Amino acid sequence: MKSIVILISGRGSNMEAIVGANIPGARIAAVISNRAEAAGLAFAAARGIYTGVVAHADYSERGHFDAALRAAIDVHAPDLLVLAGFMRVLGEDFVRHYAGRLLNIHPSLLPAFPGLHTHARALAAGVRVHGATVHFVTPELDGGPIVIQTVVPVLPGDNEDSLAARVLAEEHRIYPQAVRWFVEGRLAADGDGRIAVGGARTAAALPRHYPPLDED
Ligand code: GAR
Repeated sequence: MKSIVILISGRGSNMEAIVGANIPGARIAAVISNRAEAAGLAFAAARGIYTGVVAHADYSERGHFDAALRAAIDVHAPDLLVLAGFMRVLGEDFVRHYAGRLLNIHPSLLPAFPGLHTHARALAAGVRVHGATVHFVTPELDGGPIVIQTVVPVLPGDNEDSLAARVLAEEHRIYPQAVRWFVEGRLAADGDGRIAVGGARTAAALPRHYPPLDED
């Protein structure tokens, strides 16, 4: 059984999607937030999942926050640490400690639009397609090896909210899939630091998710 710890900062809908996927061989050991008011904590607690708060506001130095967070995580001995709308940048030591077992979801087609306000920036840029990316975390912000991406159209009349909602619905599909692949041991780095998904199907037509979801 693989132990998973999920970090959130707010709503926690991606965490809900991962919990709701009931991934065989995985146990959600804890959901931890850097904000006590994060709405997602109540969802996790209601399902009997351990919840914790390590408030960044309590620490004057980022290194001290990272150390406290790491201690709160490591009592659960996670095989995988999942950032699900976790809105703090983590330091290099922290990231290296979880190297190869730290996933993030980012609401853009990386390497386009790293950082914040991705939907507004996509609209301003006039891109025709937008999406989300699940990637392994490295010290480079939003720069680690990509596991899966999803593409959505940018439609005439879209605003930030409508585009965000279209992307979020797909985030809820690709993140549980990426976690499932990790738990199944199907993610491997190739020599160039890219991720190969063992046993992923290839599709004749360009799928909306690449590699395709098992259910596509
Ligand atoms: C999601 O859209 C996620 O991709 C994004 O925050 C949202 C969290 O929603 N993450 C980032 O922007 C990370 N830089 P959720 O709390 O409902 O999962």
